Amino acid sequence: MIRFATPEDAPDICSIYNHFVENTTITFEEKPVDQEEMRQRIVENAAVLPWLVWTEENKVQGFCYASKWKTRSAYRHSVESTIYLHPQSIRRGIGTQLYSSLLDRLRQRGMHVVIGGIALPNEASVALHEKLGFRKVACFEQVGWKFNEWIDVGYWQLFLEGVTDHSHERCSSRIGQSRPAAWGMKMRWKGGAPHFVAPRGQRTRENH
Ligand SMILES: CC(C)(COP(=O)(O)OP(=O)(O)OC[C@H]1O[C@@H](n2cnc3c(N)ncnc32)[C@H](O)[C@@H]1OP(=O)(O)O)[C@@H](O)C(=O)NCCC(=O)NCCS
Repeated sequence: MIRFATPEDAPDICSIYNHFVENTTITFEEKPVDQEEMRQRIVENAAVLPWLVWTEENKVQGFCYASKWKTRSAYRHSVESTIYLHPQSIRRGIGTQLYSSLLDRLRQRGMHVVIGGIALPNEASVALHEKLGFRKVACFEQVGWKFNEWIDVGYWQLFLEGVTDHSHERCSSRIGQSRPAAWGMKMRWKGGAPHFVAPRGQRTRENH
């Protein structure tokens, strides 16, 4: 069964996640997460984005959630996704169902892009992401150091279909514009760098 996570799931989630923290390079955390910290993560994250669990006989066998990709406001339609299953529950189609359910919920919320960062190699995760329509867009080499080795991280991206049209944000406000553009300034390239030109009679912080 798939349902939203609650803070009471923290012990089960810790025992799944800490196995990967302590034994693999799949996550870049290096110290086990205690239950109180996990409770806090669930509460804080679930307040803004979906955090789902897969349960069997009332025991959590896997979890999947979305978190902000970056905190700067223009990133607000992009999220990063995370999924972990209990080792006994892998390769039974649970990952596909749980992740699909998360994607449905993100679509309903009008999210535009989902990004999966995968520490490489991870055949299972790559297969799952590509099965769900993600495509590889980047790979950062040797950005992690764990268990005495450098680890590359690949990024897979999915555009969600049927998303809300956000163009009204640009029409009804100045959110989509750079600040100088919103102030009526024109950008010119000068000496290889952008240079903002203010309308006649105005001085700018950028230029002075
Ligand atoms: C990655 C993970 C969530 C996948 O979930 P899963 O339930 O095992 O995946 P599914 O059974 O739904 O399989 C999805 C697809 O991936 C393929 N796949 C799964 N494991 C695979 C493996 N080890 N090697 C190659 N393909 C694999 C399946 O064949 C299936 O494709 P198909 O339907 O075309 O046959 C799960 O293996 C897991 O929790 N791994 C440990 C944690 C982890 O790596 N999390 C991701 C961090 S980026």
